[in-house]
Amino acid sequence: MEYQIAPSMLSADFNILGEQLKALEESGCKWLHIDVMDGMFVPSISFGMPVIKSIRKNSNMYFDVHMMVEDPGRYVSDMKECGAQMLTVHAEACKHLDRVLQQIKEAGMKSGVVLNPATPLSVLDYVLDKTDMVLLMSVNPGFGGQSYLPAITGKIKELRKKLDDAGYPDIYIEVDGGVNEKTINEVLEAGANILVAGSAVFKGNVSERFKLFDGIIDAYRK
Ligand code: DX5
Ligand code: ZN
Repeated sequence: MEYQIAPSMLSADFNILGEQLKALEESGCKWLHIDVMDGMFVPSISFGMPVIKSIRKNSNMYFDVHMMVEDPGRYVSDMKECGAQMLTVHAEACKHLDRVLQQIKEAGMKSGVVLNPATPLSVLDYVLDKTDMVLLMSVNPGFGGQSYLPAITGKIKELRKKLDDAGYPDIYIEVDGGVNEKTINEVLEAGANILVAGSAVFKGNVSERFKLFDGIIDAYRK
């Protein structure tokens, strides 16, 4: 199983975005988590297609695009054109989750289902065959810098078991929200393999901060 830290660009300093992304990539960062917000599904508005397209020109990182958007099926082909490789959509934001996942696969991207903290795992039951990754929110989506919700540790464990029992041990588990020095080990131990870290990476020297977390996750790589 692949283990990666996915820094969340939402916490970047947009005055020097290019420099920070370059520093991350030069430090060995392979995944970039890109939070798209529409001001409807979540209160805030972040950035969209032009920004993603622009950073794609200078980056070889894997673009993990987290759609915090109502009816995200509307943007599947746009996101593909901008260079997204993994597109994750909230189960709560899709009237027809199965169809949206199918659209993502047909567009040639990897597909992910995102669950808010209060959403039960059972919504995944009939879509696992179209899912490459499940993203468990460990904060309520919308803002960086919130505290990890401890109840999610049990949810990660439950999901890892559910995926194994259902015959899908290769589906990735990503965790997003409040991952930092204090919580990272708990999240890894529970069974997640892709860890989003926003404020924890961007609050200091991004290379040093990334390397600190990458060093911790490295122990889990075989
Ligand atoms: C929150 C976003 C996250 C956010 C994480 O709604 O989906 O990706 O940037 O930020 P931290 O790591 O600071 O909790
Ligand atoms: Zn996110």
